[in-house]
Amino acid sequence: MKLNPWITAIEEEGAFFVLDKALAMKAEGRPVINLGIGQPDFLPPEHVLAAAEKAAREGPHGYTSPVGILPLREAVAEKVGARYGVDVDPDEVVIVPGGKVTFYFACLLFGGPGAEILYPDPGFPPYREAIKSGGATPVPYPILESRDFGFDAEEVLSLITPATRLIIVNSPANPTGGVVAAAEVEKLAKGLDAHPEVAILSDEIYSQLVFDEDAFASILQFPNLRDRAILLDGWSKTFAMTGWRLGYGIWPKTLVEHVRKLITVDHSCVNGVAQMAGLAAITGPMDAIRGFREKFARRRDLVVAGLNALTGITCRRPGGAFYAFPNVQATGLASKTLAARLLEEANVALIAGDSFGDNGKDYLRLSYAASTAELEEALTRMKAFLDSNRR
Ligand SMILES: Cc1ncc(COP(=O)(O)O)c(C=O)c1O
Repeated sequence: MKLNPWITAIEEEGAFFVLDKALAMKAEGRPVINLGIGQPDFLPPEHVLAAAEKAAREGPHGYTSPVGILPLREAVAEKVGARYGVDVDPDEVVIVPGGKVTFYFACLLFGGPGAEILYPDPGFPPYREAIKSGGATPVPYPILESRDFGFDAEEVLSLITPATRLIIVNSPANPTGGVVAAAEVEKLAKGLDAHPEVAILSDEIYSQLVFDEDAFASILQFPNLRDRAILLDGWSKTFAMTGWRLGYGIWPKTLVEHVRKLITVDHSCVNGVAQMAGLAAITGPMDAIRGFREKFARRRDLVVAGLNALTGITCRRPGGAFYAFPNVQATGLASKTLAARLLEEANVALIAGDSFGDNGKDYLRLSYAASTAELEEALTRMKAFLDSNRR
């Protein structure tokens, strides 16, 4: 059989590989603590579950509009618009099955031979694979610990060539938890005035998980980019709904017809029950979400303090999301070896930093979306492992 090399070259996301391995080890009775996969360990809020139950009985059961039911698009437009003080038209909102679909479709739309797309390194691994499968060349830009895991706008702008079609940015970020300073986003936005043909996709899937609200700026807040900015967000991380597969993009109006076509080719629409649950989530009380954020902030402090107390490990205090990205260079073990040995010998699953790009090679990613007891136990096991392996 002859297969499409653009597709066979795609690499699987490491977090899912580790998830499968950790689940298999657990099934064998091993006491694995999984800090590998990035998903909240909470249940969705009660009113969301109730809305889903009702929708499972009453519908909608059939196909919906490819871009999503109007009440949901209206609610997203209203909530996001109010949050950032901008006008969002429901016709700019496209509901998709999860956050990933928005950047995947953007990579198909802006890709093709000869195109270049900039993406963060370290960054969410599927960006690079989506760029490759769309036929464009992935061009990494560095995210450095010395910049508190943000980007340098000048450096990103300097990588633009006549072939650049799209820049992907992500804040708060996976895998670092870094929040790009609002001033740096503004610099990038201003710099893009000199490159009117370059679009920008801002992955803001962790936008509700910012621990210092002042630090964060949404791409929608820069009027000069409104006709070429795509905002990606969704329900997965905010409402603990990763398995529901529900996300949205806010697209420039001129692009919506193309996204709509891609949807009709790919998945027709998102299932109606998930859309009704998403509507209840976004229009309902947000106290559960505030509770999630507070819990994550406490766990962050516990994990960062615990990691910094380990020999050979230093860890910055992340500004958002639910990841810590400790520097493990001084342990003397390559992060891949360290991650593999922690899983095999200490039953702690986490992800080696180089699965997020070359600049991640001295780091581990640890998701602190786990109970305090599990986090404390994982830190104890890591300490025992590192102490017994001291050279
Ligand atoms: C930065 C980033 N964007 C997008 C996604 C995908 O979200 P979803 O599960 O809704 O597709 C993730 C999930 O881990 C992520 O970390």
